[in-house]
Amino acid sequence: MALADLSNWDRRAFLGFLAASPLAGGLPDVARRLMAAQALTQQGTPPNSVQRGLITEVEKAVDVFDFEAVAQSKLPPAHWGYLATGVDGEATLRANRDGFARLGLRARRLVDVSQVDTTSTLLGQALDHPVFVCPTSSNRAFHPDGELAVARAAKAKKHLQMLSTVATLSIEDAIAARGEPVWFQFYPPRDWDMAKKMIVRAEAAGSPVVLLTVDLNAGSNRSTMERGRQMDTRNCVACHDGTPAGQVRRKPMFDGIGAAGVPYSDPAMTWEIIKRLRDTVKMKVVVKGIVTREDTELALRHGVDGVYVSNHGGRADDGGIGTIGALPEVVAAARGRVPVFMDSGVRRGSDVVKALGLGASAVGIGRAYLWGLAAFGQAGVERVLDLLRAETLIALRHVGATKASGVPRSAVVTLPVAPPNGRA
Ligand SMILES: Cc1cc2nc3c(=O)[nH]c(=O)nc-3n(C[C@H](O)[C@H](O)[C@H](O)COP(=O)(O)O)c2cc1C
Repeated sequence: MALADLSNWDRRAFLGFLAASPLAGGLPDVARRLMAAQALTQQGTPPNSVQRGLITEVEKAVDVFDFEAVAQSKLPPAHWGYLATGVDGEATLRANRDGFARLGLRARRLVDVSQVDTTSTLLGQALDHPVFVCPTSSNRAFHPDGELAVARAAKAKKHLQMLSTVATLSIEDAIAARGEPVWFQFYPPRDWDMAKKMIVRAEAAGSPVVLLTVDLNAGSNRSTMERGRQMDTRNCVACHDGTPAGQVRRKPMFDGIGAAGVPYSDPAMTWEIIKRLRDTVKMKVVVKGIVTREDTELALRHGVDGVYVSNHGGRADDGGIGTIGALPEVVAAARGRVPVFMDSGVRRGSDVVKALGLGASAVGIGRAYLWGLAAFGQAGVERVLDLLRAETLIALRHVGATKASGVPRSAVVTLPVAPPNGRA
């Protein structure tokens, strides 16, 4: 039986077995990495009738999934595991994609959609397009140019960039490379004096919005990441020295505040943090990681400027609820008082339009651009943004929308029959 005849699951199991077997010792390094990576991933690629190959040129990418396989082949298992991982049995990771697959878009005909306006102004910032680049940590684990390549791609393609606290680029350098304000994602170090220094620095650099991520305070059990780490036979000490201080090595937002070794997630954090932020900086405050109406109401009561629906791309809780399913209750609770951002599982323009139709003001991508980055650096991120723009435009036209900010609620329906798991 040929490898191609096996089901995805069987193939993964077989590759996993091969990767772990002594036979793999004789294979070229790249082949072993590919096997290891394929065995690891649980996301899979859509079961299209034409088999996907590993693209060798960025222009050959037909959709963002084409970058996933290349990223797998290029990254060492530990780094791939970090990029791909969900938590526990990865129910939330799957639910993010399944949630989009359960929704349909109602196509409308004979509307003049020759001109489609994708612009908007959110929290005082003019956006050329509703798709934004989510904050993701440690981008140099995926490509030597890391967040710098992402900032340059976001500039070239005119997308809003959000920078992680644990980025390998400073907020100053990100804003310089992006050429426009970059929003700062904040994990406050547990010591408030240190946290203050960091956020004051981000404001001084010109970042107008702080995104307080609240979905990791309870911790996360990243099993695929751990399996990838165990599979990786390299000596990792050169980059990670194994101490808590080592975790923030090469993380410039921690420079000069003495925060090395201080944890930056806090299970004791409460809504009181919003007032602390307000008392410290004049930046707009968006709370990232909200998935319920109750927390939306609390966030608004505490005076936030925006609510960001996210489950960290399935990397936080294993509750098994996709964000596109949670979006309507958050939008209803927000009652138009503040913009609602969303991410997690967005891979296609039709996903973007579904989220817009359900009331999101802007839609974030995480893994999609990281796959592009790992595969081809800045050019890969640019191509991912181009593909999503092109797909979004077509989907907007199909639902008869001439403005991205004007997709009607009636454009989105729940499908009577849930499609088979994995439809992408
Ligand atoms: C490798 C990786 C690192 C991430 N690091 C951060 C981070 O430092 N801060 C944060 O708020 N979210 C982080 N996220 C979550 C993203 O901001 C975003 O919520 C998520 O990637 C969206 O889901 P998607 O990957 O399915 O598009 C990270 C996600 C990934 C995949």
